[in-house]
Amino acid sequence: MSLKHEIDKNRLPKHVAVIMDGNGRWAKKQGFKRVFGHKKGVDAVRQTIEAAVEIGIEALTLYAFSTENWNRPKYEIDTLMSLLVSSLKKEIGTFQKNNVKLQTIGNIEKLPKKAQRELDETKEKTKNNSKLTLTLALNYGAREEILNATQNISKKIVNNELKIEEIDEKIINSHLYTFNLPNVDFLIRTSGELRISNFLLWQIAYAELYFTEVLWPDFNKEEFYRAIINYQSRERRFGKTSEQIEKRN
Ligand code: IPE
Ligand code: IPE
Ligand code: MG
Repeated sequence: MSLKHEIDKNRLPKHVAVIMDGNGRWAKKQGFKRVFGHKKGVDAVRQTIEAAVEIGIEALTLYAFSTENWNRPKYEIDTLMSLLVSSLKKEIGTFQKNNVKLQTIGNIEKLPKKAQRELDETKEKTKNNSKLTLTLALNYGAREEILNATQNISKKIVNNELKIEEIDEKIINSHLYTFNLPNVDFLIRTSGELRISNFLLWQIAYAELYFTEVLWPDFNKEEFYRAIINYQSRERRFGKTSEQIEKRN
């Protein structure tokens, strides 16, 4: 039986973020080239989106390409970019059927023109969908995001559109790429690596973290449900004591 039935629909994380890691190692293990792992990883992306929709998650953010990933061999970068284009073309049906709205975070202007065009088209086609907001992090780096926000806030101060005393968490939030998303409740990383790799540093301040040994191409709906059940077993205290939390329930 599916683990799905063990999930409490009243205690879902609003925003789930995923560091999809382990494609290269998955491919190597079977004697294939690294890029084969990326191709297989697309199936895991589809399963994760569908699982999120099935249980009623509102926001899912997937780390697809980091600012640091430009340091990989050119062949691998080119393959990832063309895989992005072909997957968007292929999965538009999945988005429409599941009522998924696509958006991106990161500096998209540095991506190949073809990828930008396909992203723009898919965003446009899915803009009225409302069940799940799917955010792809592309050429995304949390430090770049914070830097970008700092520059934009500073410009407003210089132009007298904002006063220094007015800068608060809300203002900072509204200048991040994730301005329209709630804070991350739950962060999943596959492949056993225990690090954040420059992903959503501000937004994960109070997120629950989940690390699994499963390599990304092996991730699927059941693994997603398993992670959510683990999330639901935790007590989120936000600085309070356990007794204070129990009293409220
Ligand atoms: C994650 O898998 C995909 C991207 C970072 C684009 P990796 O390609 O990092 O796989 P490993 O970590 O080398 O196994
Ligand atoms: C993080 O994975 C980036 C993405 C999943 C897109 P990496 O595989 O690039 O991370 P590091 O470099 O091993 O930390
Ligand atoms: Mg990796």
